[in-house]
Amino acid sequence: MKLKAADIKDVKLAGDGQNLIDWAEREMPVLRLIRERFAKDQPLKGHKLAACLHVTSETANLMLTLKAGGADVALCASNPLSTNDAVAAALASQHGIKTYAIRGEDNDMYYQHIEAALDHHPAMTMDDGADLVSVLHKKREAQLGEVIGGTEETTTGVVRLRAMAERGVLRYPIIAVNEADTKHMFDNRYGTGQSTIDGIIRATNVLLAGKKFVIAGYGWVGRGLASRAKGHGADVIVTEVDAVKALEAVMDGFRVMTMEDAASQGDIFVTVTGDVNVLDRHHFATMKDGVILANSGHFNSEINLKALDDIATGVRQVRPSVQEYRLGDGRRLHVLAEGRLINLAAAEGHPAAVMDMSFANQALCAEYMARNAGKLERRVYDVPDDIDAEVARLKLHSMGVAIDTLTDEQKRYLTSWEEGT
Ligand SMILES: NC(=O)c1ccc[n+]([C@@H]2O[C@H](COP(=O)([O-])OP(=O)(O)OC[C@H]3O[C@@H](n4cnc5c(N)ncnc54)[C@H](O)[C@@H]3O)[C@@H](O)[C@H]2O)c1
Repeated sequence: MKLKAADIKDVKLAGDGQNLIDWAEREMPVLRLIRERFAKDQPLKGHKLAACLHVTSETANLMLTLKAGGADVALCASNPLSTNDAVAAALASQHGIKTYAIRGEDNDMYYQHIEAALDHHPAMTMDDGADLVSVLHKKREAQLGEVIGGTEETTTGVVRLRAMAERGVLRYPIIAVNEADTKHMFDNRYGTGQSTIDGIIRATNVLLAGKKFVIAGYGWVGRGLASRAKGHGADVIVTEVDAVKALEAVMDGFRVMTMEDAASQGDIFVTVTGDVNVLDRHHFATMKDGVILANSGHFNSEINLKALDDIATGVRQVRPSVQEYRLGDGRRLHVLAEGRLINLAAAEGHPAAVMDMSFANQALCAEYMARNAGKLERRVYDVPDDIDAEVARLKLHSMGVAIDTLTDEQKRYLTSWEEGT
């Protein structure tokens, strides 16, 4: 079968896309340094790489870094609503990246694009949600032997991949980029925290001050979101299933309760759990008229839209990213961006400065994978500590921040057990 070189919305958008890529690049100094080194050292030379990531201007900078390192790169979207069509056009037409992504693509096209990226027979996969790994394992077993390894960007993907490894079905090594401190402590917390608020505001233009803002999940994303919502003057309520996280939320000054109780109180609900049906039929039953429901967890499974559809007497689009579900008793529940990642669907995803660190990890992990081809086991690895530390060091350097170093005396003190008071 002849491979399609690209499937994008409109090549004429390429100029706009290039401007966006250049704008993001200004805030990505760590990736820029890596790109310069990659261009000299060519650590990915001869490797084909397929990436399934949100097709944004920041991702474009990662693709250009991998290409500078010698990789032959194909890219498809990791979410049907997160593609920036102008960026996709620039990548495909000006940089020779085989790009398969159109914003608003339906489920069939989404999977056709994944298959198109896999038609390039990658030796490495780079996922955000594990869809490449999943399709390779389910439908393309014959290709699995060609793959030396992969990386995974997000919490949800890591959960899926660990489940595969535990069941003994994962057929190649994966590095969980999400688990790097320089990824989840910054990207999930500050990046998603800020961009989720941005998405809700852009979609609705609602005032957050004084609103009861219910957050389901107090993990890295939930923590970031809660502190930012509080900063806007919202009255934040947290729901959790983990006692330690719930206790942390209480001590951080938030009200914690069950979703059953929160449902009738909240004005805005945001799910960030990576779980399913966190907002369900019995919650919809007690919600107030006019509430806003959004999700910033990876999949659009956190709000039970099927149940909401079942109980609604009518659904209409009231703003570009807002669907109003009218219930039999006249109440209206507003779902943002069809329950998909609100920060990408209604805003621009994470700011470039934070993706700089996540994608620096991705690039360095791809290099590590190439260097260790054939030596790693079929399991999920954490990002090597030296890569994590290097990303933090480069980021601080780019910000002009210097830190202290241990003296010899301090090193001795901190590694000995003989010295006491
Ligand atoms: N929107 C984005 O750009 C973006 C960025 C990073 C991560 N994510 C996604 O956000 C989600 C959360 O990521 P994270 O890093 O915070 O994960 P995390 O594991 O740190 O936190 C998830 C939290 O949700 C809680 N939880 C699970 N089920 C629950 C339920 N039914 N009710 C209430 N709480 C529940 C867990 O106990 C946990 O504390 C994942 O799906 C991740 O892939 C999205």
